[in-house]
This record gives sequence, structure tokens and C-alpha cells, in this order.
Amino acid sequence: MKRLLAGVLVVLLLAIGLTSAGFAEEEKVLNMYFSAAENWGALLAEKFEEYADCRVDWIRMSSAETYARLKAESDNPRGDVWVGGTLDPHTVAADEGLTEAYQPSNWDEQIVAVRDPVGDLRVLGMYSGVLGFGVNVPLLEAEGIAIPQSWEDLLDPSLKGYVGMANPNTSGTALTTVGTLVQVFGEDEAFEYMTKLHQNIGVYTKSGAAPGVLVGRGELGVCIIFLHDVIKHAEWGYPVTPIVPEEGTGFEIGGLNLIAGAPHPELAKLFIDWVLSAEVQELMSSVKSYQLPTNMNAIVPDVAQKIFDDAKDRLIAYDFTYVGENALRWMERWTAEVYSQSR
Ligand code: G6P
Repeated sequence: MKRLLAGVLVVLLLAIGLTSAGFAEEEKVLNMYFSAAENWGALLAEKFEEYADCRVDWIRMSSAETYARLKAESDNPRGDVWVGGTLDPHTVAADEGLTEAYQPSNWDEQIVAVRDPVGDLRVLGMYSGVLGFGVNVPLLEAEGIAIPQSWEDLLDPSLKGYVGMANPNTSGTALTTVGTLVQVFGEDEAFEYMTKLHQNIGVYTKSGAAPGVLVGRGELGVCIIFLHDVIKHAEWGYPVTPIVPEEGTGFEIGGLNLIAGAPHPELAKLFIDWVLSAEVQELMSSVKSYQLPTNMNAIVPDVAQKIFDDAKDRLIAYDFTYVGENALRWMERWTAEVYSQSR
């Protein structure tokens, strides 16, 4: 009986993974918060699991939503690394000490203009993309509505209920829109503009790319979105066309950050080095994410290059430091002055 009990104990110990020394071997897990396209996050998680022989637990959240999550978890950080999404909420998080500076091993391979956009390694750049409109031309033509070419055109009363954009309290795309309008028109003018635009908005979504799908399905006629998302949706078969607004437009740099107090900082650093390598950045286009990579050795797909070439004469010198400093105030101002208005 004694022998039988000892045998059962050994089996139990083995089953729960205890080593002969009596300690459980810790499982290698990376907790990733991901703020770009969901299928890209899934691909990165799968590939990094193979590369680092670990498990990746991950979740897709919009950029400003992720900032709010880091803030809520700051006493007990759960995430290791925050990957993608627009730079501005990353900057706000960095300024509040929610993230930690880290210089990747392949620093010299990163394009100088985008690798450290707000200085002191507060946020690393991992891609860039141009803001613009996605338009369902056949739908608007069938309705006899002129195709909008400018920010001003979006205010045309014929577009009432046809325009979509995300909510800047959750979405980095929408916050880039606010930052762009402020830099193109001036702050008060931009808020006056957004109050008028509010009258034409059919829906505000949580994530930045979501209005593009609604435009593709013909539930909306036009949305404010990153142009690489429009190209992706067109490749999916939706009748959508990218347009660069005449008055000028902004762009994003996709952020990458080590989370302060990360439970697995070494694995997070390994991930950052890996995701900034040319080879991994080249994977983006396999899931139709056509942002420009930041590693200068990565091959840039023609379709991604064309978006920047077509927009280059209209691109503003988007000031990431300025937007980072004002983002929270603008989110509050937008809620109070724009979103609260009836329509
Ligand atoms: C899409 C774009 C990314 C962008 C992200 C921001 O996924 O392809 O380039 O960074 O949206 O997401 P959010 O939901 O915060 O607007």
C-alpha cells in the first residue's frame, strides 16, 4: 500500500510538472498588447512562438484603449510589450512612465527619421502610414453625390449620414485625424470643423479601420482612415478608392513599447529586436498590411511605396511631440464640444 501511494505521488508530481528539485519550471509567456490589424497580430504571435519557443498571449485593442489599459494596470502591470497602433497614445503612456525606454539590437538598421520620433527612445517606430479618405465611389455616384476630394467637401450637406470615422477616445486613427486637422487648420478652427462634420457622421466606431468595412459594404459612403487600410479593403474586393485630401494630410508612425514593470522584460526585449528585423517586417504584406517598414533593409512592396508617393505633395510635417503633449486635452475637448452635440 505504501509503495502504491508513493507511486501515485510520483505520477502526480510529474503531471503537475514539478522537477526533481521540487520547483515548477516556469512557462515562457509573452503578453502582447497589439494595436494594428488583428490578422497581423495573429501572425506575429504564431511566428514568435516558434522563434522563441514560448507562448504568446495577446489581445487586439485600439491605440487609446491600450493606453487606458496600461494606466488602469499600472499598479500591477500585466502586459510585456505594446506593439503597433499610432504613436500618439504611446507617447502619452511614455510621458506618464507607463513604458520604458529600450534600444533595440538592430538600431542601426532603423530609418533615422522614424526610429525615435519623440526622442530619448520614449517610443520606437515600427511602420508608417498616410491618413486620408476611403470612398465608395459607385455608391456615391448612384446617389448623385459628388466624390469628396477635400476636408471641406466632407461638410457638404449631401453627405449627411454617409461619413464614418472612429472615436478619438479609443482609436489612434481618429486621434491622428484630430492632430492632423489641428495642424492643417489651427486648433479652434479644427474643433469648429469637427462640430460641423459631426452633423454628417453616420457612425463613430471604436477601432480606426472599422469604418472602412462599412464603406466597403455600402453602409457608409466615405470614411477617414489610413490609406493602407483602404488598399487592403480594395484587395478584399470592396469597391473602395483612396483619396488624399486637398488641404493636406497627416501620417502615423506605428509605435512599439516595452511596458514598465513588464512581468517578462527579457522576452519583451527579444520580441522588440525580432519584430524590427527586416525579415519580420517583410511579413506585413503577407497579411495585406501595407504600411512602410522602418527597417531600411526590408523590401518595400510597390503598393506600399505608391501610397506615400501619391500623397507626398500633400503630407504635412506632423509634429508627434506636439500631438503627444495635447492629446488628452483634445480628447476631452472633442467629447465636450463635438460628441456631446445632437445630430
Ligand atoms: C489600423 C492601421 C494601423 C493603425 C491602427 C490604429 O490597424 O492599419 O496602421 O496603427 O489601425 O488602430 P486604432 O484602432 O487605434 O485606430
